[in-house]
Amino acid sequence: MIVSSKVLARSNIIASSFPRVYKCLSAKSLSFHSTTAASRKVAVLGAAGGIGQPLSMLFKLSPEVSELACYDVANAPGIAADLSHIPTKCRVYGASPEENGLEKCLKGADLVVIPAGVPRKPGMTRDDLFNINASIVKTLIEGCATHCPNAILAIISNPVNSTVPIAAEVLKQHNVYDPRKLVGVTTLDVVRARTFVAESQGWDPKDVDVTVIGGHAGITILPLFSQVNNAKFTDEQLEALTVRTQFGGDEVVKAKAGAGSATLSMAYAGFLFGENILKALRGEEGIVQCAFVESSLTEASYFASPCRFGRHGVEEVLPFGPLSAGETNALQKLIPELISQIQRGRDYVVEPQAF
Ligand code: NAD
Ligand code: LMR
Repeated sequence: MIVSSKVLARSNIIASSFPRVYKCLSAKSLSFHSTTAASRKVAVLGAAGGIGQPLSMLFKLSPEVSELACYDVANAPGIAADLSHIPTKCRVYGASPEENGLEKCLKGADLVVIPAGVPRKPGMTRDDLFNINASIVKTLIEGCATHCPNAILAIISNPVNSTVPIAAEVLKQHNVYDPRKLVGVTTLDVVRARTFVAESQGWDPKDVDVTVIGGHAGITILPLFSQVNNAKFTDEQLEALTVRTQFGGDEVVKAKAGAGSATLSMAYAGFLFGENILKALRGEEGIVQCAFVESSLTEASYFASPCRFGRHGVEEVLPFGPLSAGETNALQKLIPELISQIQRGRDYVVEPQAF
C-alpha cells in the first residue's frame, strides 16, 4: 500500500508513519492541494461500534472532510454530539433508523464507509459471521443504491470476501453498479504486514511498504514479502511472517477473549484508506493502495491488489508484480477458497432461496 507521510503531517493527527506515494507528485501540486479546502461528505455506517467510533473521530479530525454523518442502529446521535465538541471545521451529525436516519446520512455522501455488523469471538471464522452480516450489508447497500448511487462505498464488515460481492449484486439489481466505486477494505492486512516486517528487520515501519493481495480471510491473504526491497528473511522467518499476517485478526480476537476483534488498528487502517480516496477524488495524483475490487487479474472475480485511485474511485486495477515460487504456490491455493467465498456472497442476493 502506498500512502503519504506529508499528508498526515498536514492533517496533524498522527505522527507520520507512511512510505512512498507522493513520489510522483510535483512540489507544485502538493503545495496547491495543501491550501485547498475540502468539501466532502463522509458517512460512517455502524458509527457507534468498536471500529465506528475511532474511525468517525479520525474523519472528524481530517481536513479532507467537511461533513461527517454517523449512522447506527444504536446511539449514533450520542456519538455525533460527543464528536461535535472537537474544534474542527467538519460538521458532524448522527442519526438512527427512526425518522429516515439512513437517508439523511447518505444523501450527498461522497464516501460511505461501512463497519456495521457483528465481530468474531474466539473459535469463529469470518465466514461464521456471514448469516448476520450479509443481511446487514445488503440492507445498508440498498440504502446507498437509493440515496447516494454515485458515492464510493468502502466495506469493512466481514466476511469481506463475501460482503463485497453481496454489495455488487445489490447495486446491480438497482442498476447503479460501478466497479470503480465499490471497494473492500484490506488495508489492515497491509498495516500488519508493514509492522511485522519492520519488527523483523529492525526498520522504522514508515520506511516499509508491503503489497498484500488476494482476499481478507486466512490463507486468502497473501503478503508479497519477496517484493520488499533489501529485506533479509530466513525461510522460517518468511513462513512465520506470512502466517502472522494471514492470521493477525485471530491474534487480536484471542487476546480480546470474547470482547470483539480488531477495532483501533482497523479504524486507523480504514481512515488511511478513506482519506486517500478523498484526496484522489479531489484530484491528487499518484494515490495507489491495495483494495479488494472487481478484478480480472486472476480467476477470482474480486481480488485485492494495488489500485490507482482517482476522481471516480478505482481508475486502474494494477498488476501485483513478480511472485516467488512460494507465493505462486500460495496464490494457486487461495484462489479456489476465494472463489467459493465470492460465490456465496453473490448467491445470497441472486439465489436467495438457497439460504
Ligand atoms: P461492533 O459490534 O463493535 O460494532 C458494530 C456496529 O454496527 C454496532 O454499533 C452496531 O450497532 C452496528 N450495526 C449493527 N447492525 C447495523 C445496521 N443494520 N445498521 C447500522 N449499524 C448497525 O463491531 P466492530 O468491532 O466495530 O466490527 C464491525 C465489523 O467489522 C465486523 O464485521 C468485523 O468482523 C469487521 N472487521 C473488519 C476488518 C477488516 O479488515 N475489513 C477489521 C476488523 C473488523
Ligand atoms: C481482522 O483482520 O482483524 C478483522 O477481519 C477482524 C477479524 O475477525 O479478524
